[in-house]
Amino acid sequence: MEKKFKRHLITAALPYANGSVHIGHLAGVYVPADIYVRYLRLKGEDVLFICGSDEHGVPITFKAKDLGCSPQEIVDKYHAIIKDSFNRFGISFSIYSRTSSKIHSETAAEFFKKLYDEGKFIEKESEQYFDPAAQVFLADRYIMGTCPKCGNDKAYGDQCEKCGSTLSPDELIDPHSRLSGEKPVKKLTKHWYLPLDKYENWLKEWIIDGHKEWKTNVYGQCKSWIDGGLKPRAVTRDLDWGVPVPLEDAKGKVLYVWFDAPIGYISNTKELLPNEWEKWWKSPDTRMIHFIGKDNIVFHCIVFPSMLKAYGDGYILPENVPANEFLNLEGDKISTSRNWAIWLEEYLDQFPGQQDVMRYVLCANAPETKDNDFTWKDFQARNNSELVAIYGNFVNRALVLTNKYFGGKVPGYTQDQLTEEDKQLVKSIPEITAAIQNCLDHFKFRDAIKEAMNLARLGNKYLTDTEPWKVFKTDPQRVAVILNLCLQICANLSIAFEPFCPFSSKRLQVMLNLAPKKDDICPVSAPEGKIRWENLGSIDFLKEGDQIGTPELLFSKIEDETIQAQTDRLARIKKENEEKAALEAASHPQPQKPECTFEEFEKMDIRTATVLEAEAVPKTDKLLKLTIDTGIDQRVIVSGIAEYYKPEDMIGKQICILANLKPRKIRGIESNGMILMAKDNSGKMRFITPQEVMVNGATVG
Ligand code: 2FM
Ligand code: ZN
Repeated sequence: MEKKFKRHLITAALPYANGSVHIGHLAGVYVPADIYVRYLRLKGEDVLFICGSDEHGVPITFKAKDLGCSPQEIVDKYHAIIKDSFNRFGISFSIYSRTSSKIHSETAAEFFKKLYDEGKFIEKESEQYFDPAAQVFLADRYIMGTCPKCGNDKAYGDQCEKCGSTLSPDELIDPHSRLSGEKPVKKLTKHWYLPLDKYENWLKEWIIDGHKEWKTNVYGQCKSWIDGGLKPRAVTRDLDWGVPVPLEDAKGKVLYVWFDAPIGYISNTKELLPNEWEKWWKSPDTRMIHFIGKDNIVFHCIVFPSMLKAYGDGYILPENVPANEFLNLEGDKISTSRNWAIWLEEYLDQFPGQQDVMRYVLCANAPETKDNDFTWKDFQARNNSELVAIYGNFVNRALVLTNKYFGGKVPGYTQDQLTEEDKQLVKSIPEITAAIQNCLDHFKFRDAIKEAMNLARLGNKYLTDTEPWKVFKTDPQRVAVILNLCLQICANLSIAFEPFCPFSSKRLQVMLNLAPKKDDICPVSAPEGKIRWENLGSIDFLKEGDQIGTPELLFSKIEDETIQAQTDRLARIKKENEEKAALEAASHPQPQKPECTFEEFEKMDIRTATVLEAEAVPKTDKLLKLTIDTGIDQRVIVSGIAEYYKPEDMIGKQICILANLKPRKIRGIESNGMILMAKDNSGKMRFITPQEVMVNGATVG
C-alpha cells in the first residue's frame, strides 16, 4: 500500500539569476512542476511550491565583469525579470524568493556550521591554481584550458560544455586564468569537504534498493555515480561572491554554490512560513518532490540528500526526483551564449494571452524520457489542429448550440431518453479521466495531456456523429440530451486541462458559470464549488436550467506569417553565430608542426607559375583543373579551390606551386604538383602570389 502523506513539498530547481528563462527550462522543470502542483491543489491537497533565484556561482561574477557592474546588480536585474515572467506564464509558486536574501545566508551558514561543529566535514589543505597577476585562487570557471576528453580549448575548470564532461581544474591541459589570461601557479589553500564516500552504503540502500520506481534516466544516473565510487566533495571556494564561510579562519572563502543553492529550498520555505516551516521539512508526513533537469540529478539525488542526512534533526528526503532530459530548438542544442533559445519574456510579449499554447506544446512534447526537439512548425500544428480544431472547436460548438437552441439554458433529460451511444459516451468519460489521473500520479505528463485531448476528441466526435443541428427541427428533446452531455464534457475538460492550461480552463469555467470571473495574471488552481478533481468523470456539473455565459473562442489560429517571423529570427541568429564562429576559428592559428631540417625543406621545389586555362572538374563542387606554365613545362594541376575561385578568376594569375610533388590521380585526372594556398582555421583559402610579377619558374625558398 502506498503511504498517504499529509502534505506535499514541491520544489523546482532554482534558476541562475544571470539570464532569462527559456523554453528549455520551462519544458524541463517549471511546466511539469506547475502541472503537478495544480493537480494536487485541485485534489484539495496541502501543497507548497518552492522556488527562487540561484544568485551565487562564478558565471554571475563573469557576467558582472563583462557588463562592468556588480554581481548584485546582475542578480537584481534578472531576479525581477525571471520572477515576473514566471508569474505571467502562470507558474504558481507559493514563493519565489532568492539566495542573496539575509534569511538564506543565515540558514546556509547555520547549516554549514552545524556540520562543521559535528565533525561532518574533512578539512584539507591542497594546492590549487592561483592567478599571480590577479592575486586570487581560480575556482571552477575562473580557469580555462583544453578538455582532456575532447580537445575543446575552451573547457572550464569544472566542466567542458562541448562534450559535457565534469572536470577538475587539474585535468585541464594548458590551463590559463580567465581573469588575466596568465598561466596560473599552484598555491596551498584550505577547504572543507563533504565525504560522500561515507554515505555510499546508505545511498545504495536508499536509492538503489529503495527507489526502483524512480524514472529510468534518474535511477540509472544515480546508480552509475554510486557504482563508480563517490569521493569527498569540496563545499567551499576561494571567492568573494557567495555566502561567507562562517568560520574564523576562512577569510575570502564562501560556500560552494551547489552547497548553498539547495538550502535555498529550506530558506525560502522559512521565509514564507517562519513559524511552520519545520512541519514541511522535518515531518515524515511530508512528501518532498524535486523537479529538475537532468544536469541537476547528482546534486538532488546524491549531494543534497547526503547533506540532509548528515544534518539529521528529522530532515526528510525526496520521495521522488522526476528529472527531465533536455529540449532542443529546431534541431540544435539550446544555448544562452549563442542566443539559440526562445526567451520566456519575449514569447509573452509577442504572443499575448497565449500562455496556454506554449504550456500545451511544451508538455505535449516534453523531454520526459529522451531529449526532444521544439520546432515552430510543430508549435503551430499543435495549436491549429489540436487546441483550436479539437478542444476549442468542441467547446465552441457546444456553447453556441446551447445558446442557439435553448437561449443559453442547460437543457435537461431523463435517464430513459439516453440512447446506447449516449450511454457509451457517459461510460467513456470517467475511463479517460481515470487515465489522466493515473498518468499524473506517475509524472507522465505527456501521456496525461494526450488523454485530456482525447476527452475533447470524444466530445467532438459525439457532436459530429449525433448532428444536433439536423435533428433539432424534428426532435428537440434529443438535442437537449446531446447538448446536456456535451456541456458536462466541457465542464470535465475545464478541470482536466486546468493543470496544463489554466488560463483557458478558467475562461471556460467562467463561460459555464462554474467559477466567478477573476483577473489574476496567474490563475490559481484550488477547489472552488464544483471545480474539484474528485468530480472529474461525473456528468452532474450543470443542472437543468442553469444559465451559461457568452461563448468566446478558447484558442485562435496561428497564421503562417507569425511562424515565419519566428523562423526568420532564428535563421538570422544562426547566420550571425556561424559568422562569429568562422571569425573566431580564423583568429586561432593552427599549432606549429613538428620541426623539419633544412635538408628536408630543400627537397621541395617551390616555384612561380602562371595559370593558362582553368575549368571546373565535372560533378564536383570543390575541384578546378588548371593548366599552368611552370617555366619548365606546361602541366595540369587539380586543386580544391573551387569554393573560393571561379575558373575565370584564376586565368592569367601568377601563383606558387610545389613542382616536385609526386603526381597523383584526382577524379581520373593526373595532377602534377600543388598550388600553394594560405588557409585559416575557418577553412578560408587564398593563393600565394609573388609581390611583383616574376618570370615563371623562379624558385621560392
Ligand atoms: O542548474 C541550475 O540552474 C541551478 N541553478 C539549479 C539549482 S537547484 C537548487 F539546488 F537550488
Ligand atoms: Zn570536452
